[in-house]
Amino acid sequence: MSHNTFGHLFRVTTWGESHGPSIGCVIDGCPPGIAIEAHEIQAFLDKRKPGGSRFVTQRREPDTVEILSGVFQDDSGRQVTTGTPISLLIQNQDHRSKDYGAIKDAFRPGHADFTYIAKYGIRDHRGGGRSSARETAMRVAAGAVARKVLEGVTIRGALVQMGPHRVDRSRWDWRTVDENPFFCPDAETAHHWEGYLDDIRKAGSSIGAVIEVVANCVPAGLGAPIYGKLDQDLASAMMSINAVKAVEIGAGMAAAELTGEENADEIRSGNDGRPAFLSNHAGGILGGISTGQEIVCRFAVKPTSSILTPRRTIDRAGNETEIVTKGRHDPCVGIRAVPVGEAMMALVLADHLLRHRGQIGTSGA
Ligand SMILES: Cc1cc2nc3c(=O)[nH]c(=O)nc-3n(C[C@H](O)[C@H](O)[C@H](O)COP(=O)(O)O)c2cc1C
Repeated sequence: MSHNTFGHLFRVTTWGESHGPSIGCVIDGCPPGIAIEAHEIQAFLDKRKPGGSRFVTQRREPDTVEILSGVFQDDSGRQVTTGTPISLLIQNQDHRSKDYGAIKDAFRPGHADFTYIAKYGIRDHRGGGRSSARETAMRVAAGAVARKVLEGVTIRGALVQMGPHRVDRSRWDWRTVDENPFFCPDAETAHHWEGYLDDIRKAGSSIGAVIEVVANCVPAGLGAPIYGKLDQDLASAMMSINAVKAVEIGAGMAAAELTGEENADEIRSGNDGRPAFLSNHAGGILGGISTGQEIVCRFAVKPTSSILTPRRTIDRAGNETEIVTKGRHDPCVGIRAVPVGEAMMALVLADHLLRHRGQIGTSGA
């Protein structure tokens, strides 16, 4: 299986399966001299880790990260990156592989069971193996390092829709995101979601969601035209997250309903001499290159396919059967996808920052 590596200059390779002994990643291309401690990576992993509330999977994983290589004490005694590959490791602790006997030979509708067998003829079915979102823990860990490369840039994510229920944007408050179990920026909607998701969870069902990720203070000039577009790489990054079925930048699909006048992000001269855009339908990217405005990306995740309601399927021999997926599952994978989306934004921007420096130097952005 190839394609386990992401990025060009800031390059991350992840490895491991859901019920293997451990998961990990290697970050190649991180610049030297960046102060980093394991607890800084841990802070982001703690946001994604399972078992945090009744609304996410009850698998108990502390997700404690170890830095195995690529760092050393500098002259002032700080632990900094050395420019060599950074290897990060998390031990898997709470796997209950027996729960997954039902999916050993039968394919969960909506999961990757059938396609892995169709392609490789073999798969580790326990907990979904390599297709499990357990892998996304390492994206979050690598994303924490990427954030260190992006000094001054803020990346934040929020759940903006669960099933048909959207947040009220007039009540958006970033501080609220950390005060409810959904990463919801609207306290009233978060309260409503509690009852809604409880009903879905108790019924053994699941529901989809939309996540919004916003990057502030990204300098103008990151990205490239034609085949290296920033929006193109962001779309690819977000689409690579498990269960993602759609990605939007800025106005996204809604741009199709706008006139040219409505969509034009008019420009005035700002007080600081820099361009002041009067709106941001472009989501902070024009011609594949950042404008200096907020970069706004949204993605939709489908409902968790492992559900307790019997679903019709076939087994490896082609016999028709029914499947009920036991084991511990997220009733709405969108919740834990929020820190994953933030991490992918960080990885793309860090990679583009280094690519920008490679071509332009430190002038410009
Ligand atoms: C954070 C996160 C947690 C997930 N947890 C589960 C889960 O508990 N059960 C499940 O069936 N799918 C879960 N998924 C989705 C599957 O990993 C995904 O649907 C599967 O790998 C098939 O890939 P695809 O949906 O991208 O086609 C999760 C996804 C994310 C992002």
